Amino acid sequence: MVEGMTPSTLPPNPSPSLTSVALNLDHIRAEFPALQGECVYLDNAGGSLVLRRVADRVRDYLLTSSVQLGASYSQSQDAGARVLAARRSVATLINAAHDDEVVMGGATTALMFQLTSALLLGIRPGDEIIVTNSDHESNIGGWARLQSAGAVLKFWNVNPATLALELPDLERLLSPRVVWVAMTHASNILGTVNPVAEVAERVHAVGGRLCVDAVAYAPHRLVDVQASGADLYVFSFYKVFGPHYAVLWGRRELLLALPSLNHYFIGPEVLPYKLQPGNVNYELSYGCIGISDYLQAVGASLGCSGSARQQMQAAFDAFERHEDQLAEQLLSYLRGKAGVRIIGLDSAASGGRVPTVSFTVAGMMSETVVRHLDRFNIGIRFGDFYAKRLVDALGLQAQGGVVRVSMAHYNTAAEIGRLIQHLDEVLP
Ligand SMILES: Cc1ncc(COP(=O)(O)O)c(C=O)c1O
Repeated sequence: MVEGMTPSTLPPNPSPSLTSVALNLDHIRAEFPALQGECVYLDNAGGSLVLRRVADRVRDYLLTSSVQLGASYSQSQDAGARVLAARRSVATLINAAHDDEVVMGGATTALMFQLTSALLLGIRPGDEIIVTNSDHESNIGGWARLQSAGAVLKFWNVNPATLALELPDLERLLSPRVVWVAMTHASNILGTVNPVAEVAERVHAVGGRLCVDAVAYAPHRLVDVQASGADLYVFSFYKVFGPHYAVLWGRRELLLALPSLNHYFIGPEVLPYKLQPGNVNYELSYGCIGISDYLQAVGASLGCSGSARQQMQAAFDAFERHEDQLAEQLLSYLRGKAGVRIIGLDSAASGGRVPTVSFTVAGMMSETVVRHLDRFNIGIRFGDFYAKRLVDALGLQAQGGVVRVSMAHYNTAAEIGRLIQHLDEVLP
């Protein structure tokens, strides 16, 4: 239990077997105050709705702990304990081996620019860095800047026919000169889950390292940084029911080897502070404990009485089953529309995708579809979602990018039904 707040439980869902337990969506939705309105919110890959327990913690911290950390008086000690508890909670959420591997900051983009500027000094001319053309730009742009130190940037492109990042294509790019590979765990347009552990094996075999952007993955699967095989792993809490805030995890020996981005007297051994110039945001850090509390409470309500991570896993297993059903409801409708091209896997049955569904409509601007849905208070959007290189490569810019419907576990079949009803008014 974390200082200062009592976690609230969810009522139990009585059922004999964990794998058959359905989420109680009334209880789930009551956790998200923004769901009480009329809007059908399907822009979750843009940013998820925020848990009441996260907001309560942010408020509580601001009103009761807003003192500077590191002093000997008791309020300062208590505030420090809360911020430390937040880091531990995030370490559990992501399965970090050590708390001090958890670096927090304002956004994934900001953390990636910080990280790559720390890497800049270690780059030697001719070092190769592989990025993909299906990533959000935040896991490409910082790497591209390392070209100023002589790094050579290479692209691992999706196969335009299958829309997959294929391992043989990566293998052709790998060589002992490769120092970093940067890829996404799930694409924020395609929804495809990529085999990062298999990539990590191949990258490590040539002596390189792997950096994974999990922003589009973390709302849908329980993160396990150790099992991922990655050396760096990053995502944003505002996509995972929390505040506008982010985490970068790195293997301790790797982080220790980086130069300090902080004051000259904050040495390279001071983890994670050397990578958090100006320190973390205290109240948002504390708010993030509410994410883990919630996931554990969902797991407990499903009948799981195991460890914190076992409860979180039970929650995500139930999220995945529910999200697959929602995604399949929409995908099966879209598959039946002759003018629609699904940009990504066209079925949720394989388990290979998260419920972020993108499509284009022949002869129609993507904006037209979205504006029609706006009239019925259904929140979806169109564009390239900063995965600009992918949308360019697929030749979709002229249409205004893709229409993207992105679901979360708190969405309902009735909401997807309402979406489909109004899509049917506009799709040919
Ligand atoms: C896959 C992916 N990576 C990175 C980002 C950037 O995250 P942030 O806004 O925290 O910089 C986003 C934002 O949409 C994203 O979808």
